[in-house]
Amino acid sequence: MRSAIITAHGGPSVLKVESRPIPIPSANEILVRVHGSALNRADVMQRQGRYPPPAGAPSDIPGIEFAGEIVGLGAGAAQWTVGARVCGLVSGGAHAEYLVTHERAVAALPNAVSWETGGAAVEACITAHDALVAQASLRPGDTVLIHAVGSGVGLTAVQIARQLGARVFGTARGETKIAAAMSFGLEAGVQPASAGWVADAVKGWTDGRGVDVVLDLLGGDYVRESIMALAPRGRLVLIGTLAGLESTIDLRHMLSRRLTMRGTVLRSRPLEERIGVTQAFAREVMPWLSSGAVRIPIDASFPLERIGEAHALMESNTTVGKIALTF
Ligand SMILES: NC(=O)c1ccc[n+]([C@@H]2O[C@H](COP(=O)([O-])OP(=O)(O)OC[C@H]3O[C@@H](n4cnc5c(N)ncnc54)[C@H](OP(=O)(O)O)[C@@H]3O)[C@@H](O)[C@H]2O)c1
Repeated sequence: MRSAIITAHGGPSVLKVESRPIPIPSANEILVRVHGSALNRADVMQRQGRYPPPAGAPSDIPGIEFAGEIVGLGAGAAQWTVGARVCGLVSGGAHAEYLVTHERAVAALPNAVSWETGGAAVEACITAHDALVAQASLRPGDTVLIHAVGSGVGLTAVQIARQLGARVFGTARGETKIAAAMSFGLEAGVQPASAGWVADAVKGWTDGRGVDVVLDLLGGDYVRESIMALAPRGRLVLIGTLAGLESTIDLRHMLSRRLTMRGTVLRSRPLEERIGVTQAFAREVMPWLSSGAVRIPIDASFPLERIGEAHALMESNTTVGKIALTF
C-alpha cells in the first residue's frame, strides 16, 4: 500500500510516500481501505519529534483520523460487513491506503457524508463534542468562549455548541478568521491585545457576568486571560498548547468564582474510552453532519503524494478549518 512515512524528525521534507505491506486485522479488528483523512497538529508534532505515537500505533506512519470502506474482517469481527462505509480515530497509521482498527472504534458513515468530509470530521467533532458535553457539562443557554476559533476544531466547536443551545464567542489573530467563524454561528469575536483583553471583551458580550465555558485550544497566556473571563462556577477545558506550555494564573479567581480547569487529550486514551467517544459521536454528532446542520470547513485538500505541502500549510497558521488528504 502507499503510505506516508516519517523518515526522520525534522521539517516537511522528511515525509516520503513509500510502499508498505497491507496490515492484517487481528481478532475483532477490521481492515479499512482509507478514502479520506486529514492533517492534525499531532501529525506535525510527531514529524518534529515532539509527540511520539502511543504504544501499539505504527511508529513512522502518521494520521489519526480516517473515513473508508471495510475490506476485511479479523477473527470474531461480526459487527460490520465488507463494503460498509465507516470513519474513526486511530492512534496513528491513517495516512496510508489501508489501516486496521477495532470494529467497535468506528462510526457508520452515511452516504450523505463524502469521504473527504468524513475523513476530516472525526477528530474535530469528537474533540469538540467531548470537551463541551463530557468535560464542560455544557447546558442550553450557557455562554462559551473558543480560542483559535478559526481552526478546524474551533469552527466545528462553534457549530456543535450552537446545536447544544449555547451562545458562542471566540478569539483569533485575524479578522478574516473571526468573520469566517461568524458565518458558522459565532456571535462575536476579538483579536489579542494588551493584558485583560479577553475578560474585557467577554464582559461586554455577557453584561459583565463572564462566560460559563472556555475551550482553550492554545494554552500559554490564554489560560491566564481565560481564568479572568470565566463566570462563577465556570469551566475551562485545556485542549492544546500552541501558544505555550506554561501560564501564571491568579488563584484568587479560581477560589472566589469556584472555577474548574481540566485538560484533555484523545490520542492516548485507552481503547474502551476511544470506543465510548466514537459511539457518542455516531449517536449525537453524525446526524448533524448528515443533515448539514454541522459543516466541516475544508480549507485545502491534498493527495497523499503532496503530504509535505499539507504539513507546511498547517504550520503557516493561515488555514481556516481543516486540511484534507485524499487517497
Ligand atoms: N487534546 C486533544 O485531544 C486535541 C485534539 C485535536 C486538536 N487539539 C489541539 O487543538 C488545537 C487546534 O487544532 P486544529 O487542528 O484545529 O488546529 P488548526 O486548524 O491548525 O488551527 C490552529 C490555529 O491556532 C492559532 N495559533 C497557532 N499558534 C498560535 C499561537 N502561538 N498563538 C495564538 N494562536 C495560535 C492559529 O490561528 P489564529 O490565526 O487564529 O491565531 C492557527 O491557525 C491545537 O492546539 C491542537 O493540538 C487537541
